[in-house]
Amino acid sequence: ERPRIGLIGLGTMGTALALNIAERGFPIAIWNRTAQVTAKVVAQAGMLADRIVPAQTLADLVAAIAPPRAIILMIPAGQPVDDQLAALAPYLDRDDLVCDAGNADFHDTDRRMAAGLPFRFLGMGISGGEEGARHGPAIMAGGDRADWDRVAPVMTAIAARADDGTPCAAWMGQAGAGHFVKMVHNGIEYADMQMIAETYGLMRDGMGMDAAAISDLFTGWNDGPLKSYLIEISAQITAAADPRTGRPMIDMILDRAGQKGTGRWTAVEAQHLAAPIPVIEAAVMARNVSARLGERLAGEARFGPAPQPCDLAPDTLEQALIAGKILCYAQGFAMIAAAAQRFGWSLDLPRIARVWRAGCIIRSAMLNDMAAALAENPARNLILAPFFADLIETALPGLRQVVAQGTAHGHALPALASGLMWFDLMRTGRGTANMIQAQRDFFGAHGFQRLDGLADPHGPWGRTI
Ligand code: 6PG
Repeated sequence: ERPRIGLIGLGTMGTALALNIAERGFPIAIWNRTAQVTAKVVAQAGMLADRIVPAQTLADLVAAIAPPRAIILMIPAGQPVDDQLAALAPYLDRDDLVCDAGNADFHDTDRRMAAGLPFRFLGMGISGGEEGARHGPAIMAGGDRADWDRVAPVMTAIAARADDGTPCAAWMGQAGAGHFVKMVHNGIEYADMQMIAETYGLMRDGMGMDAAAISDLFTGWNDGPLKSYLIEISAQITAAADPRTGRPMIDMILDRAGQKGTGRWTAVEAQHLAAPIPVIEAAVMARNVSARLGERLAGEARFGPAPQPCDLAPDTLEQALIAGKILCYAQGFAMIAAAAQRFGWSLDLPRIARVWRAGCIIRSAMLNDMAAALAENPARNLILAPFFADLIETALPGLRQVVAQGTAHGHALPALASGLMWFDLMRTGRGTANMIQAQRDFFGAHGFQRLDGLADPHGPWGRTI
């Protein structure tokens, strides 16, 4: 049977995706810039090799696929995608469809769609790392709905399935919406990881726990409301021994975090949307600070090490993480709602929560409840959904105690603390922005609204009481 689908880019993710597609019964043509790589993939494909058609050139690849073709790009984001699209253009027909499955900046996807490419184009965010790509990723597509419908049978077949059997692959909205949702997913991924790292720091430096004891706690949490992929791997990470020294692996790793930039994109975009996502911003900030190792060492030499022993009950930490997680996701979903309004996309919040339930890095049990809460009323902030409002009420004292005790003892908790700050702002009916407005009026005559509704928009700033 002649393939109806092809794939370009046989790195780790591309190879895994191609094998997944073949395994689900779809013949697939593959091409890589370096021919040896293509040959190696076929050699490693085992029984799947007869569903894989290796192509030597781009022209061969296109010729191997039955029209109307679908071609998945799994290559580095940015210029390489533009170059690849330009290289493909002479070979493709108008109704051939190219799906960019990389971590593209959604602005680029918007731009490419608006540029009038001589073929159909879909932006497709894929999450789940190599394992996900091979056995079931989460897929977030954006572009014309009809283009998604064409590839949906393959994409839903290869995607992860939630517990209720629903495939975690869906059309998110027009233009760059798929890559936008993937970007927010990554921002939340940064935040989830940072909050886990902060509680790990409290256990290690505050409570004096060793890696094995920390692993036991994470393992326990993975049976409760925090059940998630990231908690599960944190339990495994803290249980692993360094084969070279026999010491806990985690204790042998330099505390300097890398990043490819998708978390930063989320933070920057949130600023453009005036959407408050402080937990994600704090996570990006923390990665940036972690990279400045020399300055941190100089700081410690001058001021002494920050974290001091700090007594917190494990349950309190768990509650803090539960509250922090809900607050972070509430911010992320609100940001998506803001984007839907700004860009005129039909982003469907419950659908997004459902797609995130399995396959992706931020998959967790809580997303089931989030999908249900958002389905009740997508316009309502998640913190006001009765189920989550109750959960927050229960978990909040834990978060407050962890932030208060932790910071009092020198523990840096940027993500957890900024979640709490945001929450307290969100439940303050009479805030302090009257002072901001008065200052703006004082120096710039910007005017303000009076509480009593009278029409005197400026203050008597020359006069003292
Ligand atoms: C996923 C991941 C993945 C992403 C990195 C981000 O959903 O599978 O989000 O797509 O590229 O996890 O990584 P950095 O930490 O390197 O920015």
